[in-house]
Amino acid sequence: MSLNQSPNGREAERVVGNNVQRAKISALGTYTPPRLLTNADLEKMVETTDEWIIERTGIRERHIVEKGVGTSDLAFEAAKRALAQRGLSGRDVEVIIVATVTPDMFFPSTACLLQHKLGASGAWGFDLSAACSGFLYAMATGAQFITSGRHKKVLVVGADVMSSIIDYTDRTTCIIFGDGAGAILIEAAEPGEDGLIDFNYEIDGSGGDDLYMPAGGSRMPSSVETVEKKLHFVHQNGPQVFKFAVRKMYEVCDTLLKRNGLTGDDIDIFIPHQANIRIIEATRERLGMPPEKVLINIDRYGNTTAGTIPLATADAITQGRLKKGSLVLYASAGAGYTVGAALVRWSF
Ligand code: COA
Repeated sequence: MSLNQSPNGREAERVVGNNVQRAKISALGTYTPPRLLTNADLEKMVETTDEWIIERTGIRERHIVEKGVGTSDLAFEAAKRALAQRGLSGRDVEVIIVATVTPDMFFPSTACLLQHKLGASGAWGFDLSAACSGFLYAMATGAQFITSGRHKKVLVVGADVMSSIIDYTDRTTCIIFGDGAGAILIEAAEPGEDGLIDFNYEIDGSGGDDLYMPAGGSRMPSSVETVEKKLHFVHQNGPQVFKFAVRKMYEVCDTLLKRNGLTGDDIDIFIPHQANIRIIEATRERLGMPPEKVLINIDRYGNTTAGTIPLATADAITQGRLKKGSLVLYASAGAGYTVGAALVRWSF
């Protein structure tokens, strides 16, 4: 066995004997809470209009949890659905990775809470913090446990209750975010099957102040003052985040496509993180892809952070646009900054 240092830079595979061992996505489950927060609702809460929100973001409605519902509850529903799709139970899971920026608590991790809820007594796991790139980062991380041969079934969840950290008096942020979760099971691909082909991820910490939650951590612990100053909510420099996302989502996709000898023409479906319809459209255009190749569902969910990519993937399947053998290009950009692109040959 040796790590495959192939000249095209592919990182998501391992050579076992004469075969390349790849990881594949074998199941997908999603969950959004039933309660809707529409643009009409927001018009009553802040000075905004349905027209402005649709034109500037593409969002019409978002799903929001009831009080007392945490990220692990959403993760549990999504994970149950993914496991049921493969006819498995929690006992079959070996590793749980939960991507989130809204854990139920700082500790224990949401992965531990989920392990208990699922009865996944044989699994170990951890949370991963990469904001809107969290799901893609967790997917590649989970795949490594498969390609290394160390584990056979890895559950990767992207889940966020963004409504728990949104200031519903701030019209520049409260219109954007929603709550949701998605879970995938990652297993070994069959010999000759592609699965997760390659990924290209970058972080740029110099943009940390453009999108962050200032208080509640070790540097600025919670106090009456931090609550009064609304420092436990999302603070964002919207136009700056917008510019970064448009530039970098294209760049990481372009690099990934080129090093795999591909162009936009080879991609069956482009599934980007859903942050703003204008970011998605600008990225798609720069990649030279026609509109019918991109999945957009931000109108129904808003930005659910780690939940957007699995939710969009599920919609692509439902719409008949993602089938076994389809070549998917994923892309994300988020707080940190974090940015990523991944190539997946769909497996079911
Ligand atoms: N309703 C009505 N007007 C609003 C508004 C709202 N909800 N939010 C902002 N405005 C106003 C601003 O106050 C500003 O008014 P002014 O010109 O009088 O100062 C005007 O609209 C333009 O604001 P600006 O921030 O330049 O708007 P924008 O076109 O950049 O859109 C965002 C704002 C937040 C929608 C946009 O910047 C964005 O989507 N950024 C990326 C955010 C993101 O994706 N975050 C998650 C990353 S994963």
